[in-house]
Amino acid sequence: MALPRSEYLSSTWRDGIFDNKVVFCTGGGGTICSAQVRALVHLGANACILGRNVEKTEKMAQSIATARKGAKVIGIGGADVRSIESLEKAVERCVRELGGIDYVIAGAAGNFLSPIAGLSANAFKTVMDIDTLGSYNTLKATIPYLIESVKKNPNTGTNTSTGGRILFISAAFHYTGMPLQTHAAAAKAGVDAIMAGTALEYGPYGITSNVITPGPIAGTEGMARLGDPKSEATGAAQRKNPLGRYGTVKEIADGTVYLFADTGSYVNGEVLVIDGGGWRSTGAF
Ligand code: HXC
Repeated sequence: MALPRSEYLSSTWRDGIFDNKVVFCTGGGGTICSAQVRALVHLGANACILGRNVEKTEKMAQSIATARKGAKVIGIGGADVRSIESLEKAVERCVRELGGIDYVIAGAAGNFLSPIAGLSANAFKTVMDIDTLGSYNTLKATIPYLIESVKKNPNTGTNTSTGGRILFISAAFHYTGMPLQTHAAAAKAGVDAIMAGTALEYGPYGITSNVITPGPIAGTEGMARLGDPKSEATGAAQRKNPLGRYGTVKEIADGTVYLFADTGSYVNGEVLVIDGGGWRSTGAF
């Protein structure tokens, strides 16, 4: 059964704004990225989502496809963003079956809480490889298709049917530093840097490159990894957030639609922090 729209997308957006567009998303089996893709599919796009877990990714693709009658959503399990070959293979299938790539979400991430002293070199490298190298690999494998997309749908700022957008998912850990998250902070600082370089190098091609930084979002794997939602520490984090609550996946999906629709045509090289102002008062959470 299809999820109600109110769970993943506000009523603000008009149906059909992404008709005939294709979104390619790494980490698409996860809670946040799947909501982003579901919102884009609801509004007309077809999609290709990637994940390491075959069953989870394929099931999520089927679920996302229920967001719109006639939607095509491919789930490619067994894909690892640390491997450029794995990404190139997935991109080739996406283009063959869906006809191109207009929007990219580089969302795959790996994380855990650990003190610096508890990290092995391989543990640190693993998070860097998934988040930073994985974002770079995603960019590298998809950029030729984003260039093609802009040729078909130029980003003039006056049409609703734009293409050639890449969005990286980052975090606010590195703005202030955060205990137990030094590895993730280093990795996400790298992601922000990749976004900025892309904005400058590929802006002249009509491609926009931005970051969304989700704050604490209810019901996600990231929050489950941060601890028991009913714990005192989590309660204190909620109370310290200027808005006094956690965010929702819908609020991240709405930000994504804003950046990919004509509303975002002049937004390039930006970090959109969707965290209720949390990082300013609590240091990320
Ligand atoms: C210290 C750890 C560790 C931990 C793993 N390692 N977990 N070290 N504390 N809790 C070490 C291992 O011992 C190993 O080092 C190295 O990391 C690689 O571990 P593997 O299990 O071999 O790696 P892999 O199978 O590739 O798994 C990657 C992973 C795993 C990141 C470790 O947790 C994962 O697959 N996560 C995917 C989903 C995910 O993390 N989602 C959350 C994203 S949300 P040695 O030296 O022993 O070889 C997010 C938002 C914020 O990022 C969340 C806040 C927490």
